[in-house]
Amino acid sequence: MAAPASASADSRSRPNRAAARDVVFVDGVRTPFGKAGDKGMYAQTRADDLVVKVIRELLRRHPDIPPERIDEVAVAATTQIGDQGLTIGRSAALLAGLPKSVPGFAIDRMCAGAMTAVTAVSSGISFGAYDIAIAGGVEHMGNHPMGEGVDPNPRFVSDNLVDTSALVMGSTAENLHDRFPDITKDRTDAYSVLSQQRYAAAAQSGRFDLDFVPVATRSDSGWGLATEDEQPRPGTDLDSLSGLKTPFRSHGHVTPGNAAGLNDGATGCVLTGADTAEELGLPVGMHLVGYSFAGVEPEVMGVGPVPATEKALHRAGLSIDDIGLFEINEAFAVQVLAFLDHFGIAQDDPRVNPWGGAIACGHPLASSGVRLMTQLSRHFAEHPEVRYGLTTMCIGFGMGGTVIWENPNYRGGDR
Ligand SMILES: CC(C)(COP(=O)(O)OP(=O)(O)OC[C@H]1O[C@@H](n2cnc3c(N)ncnc32)[C@H](O)[C@@H]1OP(=O)(O)O)[C@@H](O)C(=O)NCCC(=O)NCCS
Repeated sequence: MAAPASASADSRSRPNRAAARDVVFVDGVRTPFGKAGDKGMYAQTRADDLVVKVIRELLRRHPDIPPERIDEVAVAATTQIGDQGLTIGRSAALLAGLPKSVPGFAIDRMCAGAMTAVTAVSSGISFGAYDIAIAGGVEHMGNHPMGEGVDPNPRFVSDNLVDTSALVMGSTAENLHDRFPDITKDRTDAYSVLSQQRYAAAAQSGRFDLDFVPVATRSDSGWGLATEDEQPRPGTDLDSLSGLKTPFRSHGHVTPGNAAGLNDGATGCVLTGADTAEELGLPVGMHLVGYSFAGVEPEVMGVGPVPATEKALHRAGLSIDDIGLFEINEAFAVQVLAFLDHFGIAQDDPRVNPWGGAIACGHPLASSGVRLMTQLSRHFAEHPEVRYGLTTMCIGFGMGGTVIWENPNYRGGDR
């Protein structure tokens, strides 16, 4: 005879249930970003070797992390074949010399790959499944041009699920201009000049030195060392942008000057439970507050950060006015302005991308999310008057992702 339900439930021994834990971003690093293509500095460098450099550097900077206690290595890549294949989180962990007992996996959410690697392992930490994890991303767009090997189901178009323009990111940016006629080319060019200027000022004052892990490079003329980004054009002004071609639509708005480029690079960061960071004496760069992803029409994927941010703010019980610093990925200037206009933020607001963005430094797709986070953690260190910041990005095929962070250095003040 079966025991009464209550007695059976009472007598069964239960495992400990995981309780949500505070998750911290310890530190992030990145390789300098190269220009994709035969002349780029990583033309003869493998994508997985870029990831290895990042992992090694994180461990070198934080010798208090016992490698055998790393519970997960999540590495994103949009194209997961060749030197970005073979479950790159696992293969790069092995190549980096982590103990074989440390597992890893590969992850893909196009441009938000590294961001999703962070949210995935953070959820595992919060749940109690991990104490320490490495998350990052890589894209060698020289070895893997955008769209390599993809085979979109014909029904996307035949069944009118999406317009063909949804498959070309630059075309989706032109579509955004159609949707928001107030975002003129003059405005996107002005924003792009500002991004270049802010990047140049930050680079000149050594602001990126802490982020970079130098990479040995190979070319036909011998060995070299990559120590800085290859893409920036510090002399950019409105005049130099005005005559550029519009490759995605004749007489369009989107040019090589107001879009992110095609780049090679890798990023990585360490995330832990706050209790683990305390136990090991690790620095705390940021506390995770919350995150959200949201879908939008694929034809205007650039607007994705708007609903993602609204959702993340709502879940966190915060408003846009609580946010003191923004790191927005600059896939296209028009998409940044769509976000800023929506929230009533001026396009030259000093809280937004204070050290420039992807229009200047480049956007190796799946790696960029952790660049934004690393940058925000550096801003937090310089701005104890700021309590909350957010990282946000648009994502191919119509999505946006937003992660909200709290400044551990907050000492009260503005926001
Ligand atoms: C826009 C895009 C097509 C341009 O590619 P490209 O033609 O290889 O770019 P280049 O760097 O060669 O620049 C093209 C021209 O613009 C010029 N240029 C680029 N940026 C400039 C700037 N800031 N100031 C002045 N000139 C600039 C270059 O000098 C070059 O001139 P040239 O043709 O006389 O040599 C490419 O960068 C792209 O597709 N970007 C978007 C990437 C993307 O979709 N990412 C995913 C987002 S979701």
